[in-house]
Amino acid sequence: MSMPTFMHNDDLLALQEVLASQSLLSLFVEDAQRVDRFSCEASGLYLDYSKNRVNERVMGLLLATVREKGLPEKIQALFSGELVNYTEKRPALHTALRGAIQTPVDKQTLIMAAQAQMAAFVDSVHSGRWLGATGKTITDVINIGIGGSDLGPLMVTQALRAYRHKGIRCQFVSNVDAADLLAKLEVANPESTLFVVASKTFTTLETLTNATTARSWLIDAMGDNADISKHFVATTSNVANAVAFGICEDNVFPMWDWVGGRYSLWSSIGLPIALGVGMDHFKALLAGARDMDTHFASQPFESNMPVILAVLGVWYANYWEAESHAVIPYAHDLRTFPKYLQQLDMESNGKSAGRDGPVKYSTGPIIWGEAGTNGQHSFHQLLHQGTRLVPVDFIAPMKANHEHGAHQIHLFANCLSQSYALMVGKTREQAKQEFLDIGYSEEESERLADHKVMEGNRPTNTILMNQLTPKNLGALIALYEHKVFVQSVLWDINPFDQWGVELGKKISTLISAVMTDLGDAGDFDASTQNLIRRFQAVQGDNDHESDS
Ligand code: F6P
Repeated sequence: MSMPTFMHNDDLLALQEVLASQSLLSLFVEDAQRVDRFSCEASGLYLDYSKNRVNERVMGLLLATVREKGLPEKIQALFSGELVNYTEKRPALHTALRGAIQTPVDKQTLIMAAQAQMAAFVDSVHSGRWLGATGKTITDVINIGIGGSDLGPLMVTQALRAYRHKGIRCQFVSNVDAADLLAKLEVANPESTLFVVASKTFTTLETLTNATTARSWLIDAMGDNADISKHFVATTSNVANAVAFGICEDNVFPMWDWVGGRYSLWSSIGLPIALGVGMDHFKALLAGARDMDTHFASQPFESNMPVILAVLGVWYANYWEAESHAVIPYAHDLRTFPKYLQQLDMESNGKSAGRDGPVKYSTGPIIWGEAGTNGQHSFHQLLHQGTRLVPVDFIAPMKANHEHGAHQIHLFANCLSQSYALMVGKTREQAKQEFLDIGYSEEESERLADHKVMEGNRPTNTILMNQLTPKNLGALIALYEHKVFVQSVLWDINPFDQWGVELGKKISTLISAVMTDLGDAGDFDASTQNLIRRFQAVQGDNDHESDS
């Protein structure tokens, strides 16, 4: 499938050509105010976007495009609960969950009741009033969910490790490969374990399979003492299915169809977060996101952080042919943030249908990344010398959540060194001189110089926060949620549905039926039939493979 990457704005196309011939460093030389001009602050976050291949004219035109696309009205529609998810005829009210000002009153009532239920439950677990079936207090929380019912809570719980409730270990199971569940069960004591079955629909195959195996594990281990109601709670909008599973209705925490799965960590899907770090910290997370909501809804676009990140992303995706975008947090506790963003961004904007038919330009890029400094020793080589343009967001808390200042200095220095090196690169003369300096001959140095050349001029954003706190984290997540939304407006796509994942789910049910001799293999092509047969052939064989 080939798709033209350009959106058609002749002025921007012309400016792209001009900027492609200018080095980033020269833009700093030309404009002493460049850092002030291309930076902004919001909700505890500072964004420096001066190391981008933009000038004021480009930013002005990109922001004008956003206005032409009706962003102010679209923001209003999002916050006030209009049916912005128009293919599923639903609102997308994740902002309501953190108390955004325009929240419809009926939703406010539901949200407050759900938060009160969460708070009471978290308190009963933390205070030791909630007991397992044999009278033991809860030491292990295992969240069973997938996609939005896993990644958000997992990422936040890891990110807020410094705030964790010392008596509780939170683990997350998502993969239908039993290896995931078994690894977590290995270190858990059934008598003091609480499972949170997290599924908006309570129909997801992976989650129900894992929950059923976890239930059997508990019953097998506890025998006559087993009491599911003391060890399983659910976060779902499908109360009937949760109750049918054996979960007491009082222990079902509500979800609603007006909150999308990948936007749901702010709802009761965030229960493992609250259990892991406490309700106060969960509320601080919401408050940080609410601050960012207010900024997004009220700040002029020239200094509106989500809008700026969004237009920069579109600039590279649609005018510079960038196919991917890297997000690299220089904080080990944020290592799952890129993975979380993959769902948020790619499940939202990985679409080719516009409101009025197929789009004729590239939409959401491939999102990827890893915590720094680890990435420097794996994929940064490609960022520096590869043939593809990969814009990067560096995210860095400046103050550590620990006492080891020397580590923090190395960490932050490495973060800055990467954005600087990506910008300045290395010339051929410098590269050749380096070879000469280590004793290579003139001829060798001349021949090998290209191998050390770094083109430079690779665009980066740097997002700083004072410290990785619940509030700053809430703001950071909301920043990216809104960035994704703005891009969806520019690309004219619905960021709140995910029809693309449905077909694979349906087919897997049909293939499972064939594999268990309940379906007709003839429905599938020769390759798929062959692969099924090969699978079936090894199933009867109980021996473990030996490599010897
Ligand atoms: O993968 C598709 C998806 O619907 C995601 O959007 C969602 O987060 C995930 O499955 C889990 O769904 P549920 O919470 O209903 O189990």
